Amino acid sequence: MSEKNELLFEMRNIEKIFAHVHALDHVNFDVRKGEVHALLGENGAGKSTLIKILTGVYTKDGGQIFMDGKEIEINSRDDAADAGIAVIFQELSLVPTLSVYQNILLGKEQSRFGFISDRAEKQQIQELIDRYGFPVKATDIVETLSVAQKQMVEILKALAADAKLVIMDEPTASLSSRESELLYKIINQLRDRGVSIIYISHRLEEVFNLSDRITILRDGKNAGVVEKENIVPSEIVKMMIGKELSESTASRELHTSDAEVELAVKDLTHIGAYNHVSFEVKKGEVLVLTGLVGSGRTEVIRSIYGADPYDSGEIIFEGKVIKPSIKRSVANGFGLIPEDRRTQGFSPLLSVTGNVALTSYDKIAKGGFVNKKDEDALGRKAVELTDLRPANPNVKVGDLSGGNQQKAVLGKWLTRDLKVVLIDEPTVGIDIGAKDEIYNIIEGLAEQGVAVLMVSSDIAEVLRVAHRIIVMREGKIIKEFNHGVATQEDILLASSGFVDEKEAA
Ligand SMILES: Nc1ncnc2c1ncn2[C@@H]1O[C@H](COP(=O)(O)OP(=O)(O)OP(=O)(O)O)[C@@H](O)[C@H]1O
Ligand SMILES: [Mg+2]
Repeated sequence: MSEKNELLFEMRNIEKIFAHVHALDHVNFDVRKGEVHALLGENGAGKSTLIKILTGVYTKDGGQIFMDGKEIEINSRDDAADAGIAVIFQELSLVPTLSVYQNILLGKEQSRFGFISDRAEKQQIQELIDRYGFPVKATDIVETLSVAQKQMVEILKALAADAKLVIMDEPTASLSSRESELLYKIINQLRDRGVSIIYISHRLEEVFNLSDRITILRDGKNAGVVEKENIVPSEIVKMMIGKELSESTASRELHTSDAEVELAVKDLTHIGAYNHVSFEVKKGEVLVLTGLVGSGRTEVIRSIYGADPYDSGEIIFEGKVIKPSIKRSVANGFGLIPEDRRTQGFSPLLSVTGNVALTSYDKIAKGGFVNKKDEDALGRKAVELTDLRPANPNVKVGDLSGGNQQKAVLGKWLTRDLKVVLIDEPTVGIDIGAKDEIYNIIEGLAEQGVAVLMVSSDIAEVLRVAHRIIVMREGKIIKEFNHGVATQEDILLASSGFVDEKEAA
């Protein structure tokens, strides 16, 4: 038993202070050998900061780190690698034009296999792949792989470097459910081979399934450590957010509105992305496009906005056929909130206010002068609308936590007077407490008469906000739910292609 609970490393009394926040306040965190340990907490709780200290990206302002019982200093990424710590970055760090094995070799300065032939190296890496049953070949070129496969290559890199600890910060954020399943399998295999894993995710269900232990942070402080056998979901959520949360919906009553049609698409086709897509969105309606990742939903809304082209079909706004361009979309009162808010959608060096104002200069800059008071008011409104933390509109967006950066992007659009909101995966990476606020905002927009077209893969979310639901699969609409009660199961089945042939649109 004692061997099973042997610690790999321990962080004691870790301190980190940034200009505007005390990000980590005497935090303790330890991981055992061969355990999957989840770090949970709301956006801005300090999870990524703790990991960055462990991996040498940030230096700590106080506290100690022990590895195998000995105190160590980690001041650089190399120090972390030497200690056997590997991170699977969200922004994957692979060279696209090289093969899988070349990328893996690149990860290590000197080959740990010594100076051996290219062929032998390829073979050894293929053996490693086979041992774990990863769905890639050593000779595959990285740019031909899916996001999930690329992630596998990152994991292989860690394994080839003999990592004792593999850290995954929101690894499933852009994976389909089948790809996520595969990742879970691999995580379990790693654990069985004695590798420790730190897992960060806002998808609580997967956290509860995977974890041997969970450490919960709140406002930069320890809020609890829970062993697998003691996991009670509602209690963990309470530790995260400091209050109880109402149950989320498992089904929803849908209805078709009889308001005016604001936006319609007819037979819209973009060869290779989606085919003959037709639907209408009425004023004050929330229409959700759901389905599996890769079903063409994002491409449809990007075409509507003018961010991507289409080959045939029509886009109709307020009864008139339009040829969208980004410029015209802005003028028409369209807002596009992209899915990838980590890399699109904000200027990291500008403050929250600066970012929010960027999309609103038409309103606040009359005759070429920016009204500073209006600008500040917008910034404060964005902070308030999205419950941004820290609640300070002067903080640079690049310094916010991942989830709060996304809230800043939302705030940027939600403070504008829009007629059509196109929103892609509104809550990926957003904590369970803040999600609800975002749903309220979306509902509020609809109540004001805005036509909302939303893409979401999160079924609980779809059922929480949709007035009507369209399911897409492989670029086509295969089912619409527009009346009666839809359940999680109905939508899951349709997304996976289990639709009555006669019913399929
Ligand atoms: N480079 C930085 N400069 C200033 N403040 C920072 C910096 N990095 C993080 N912070 C602040 O530290 C706090 C903790 O952020 P952290 O990124 O660790 O949160 P998180 O738990 O990972 O949240 P999320 O779930 O949103 O990713 C936040 O208030 C954030 O604004
Ligand atoms: Mg983070």
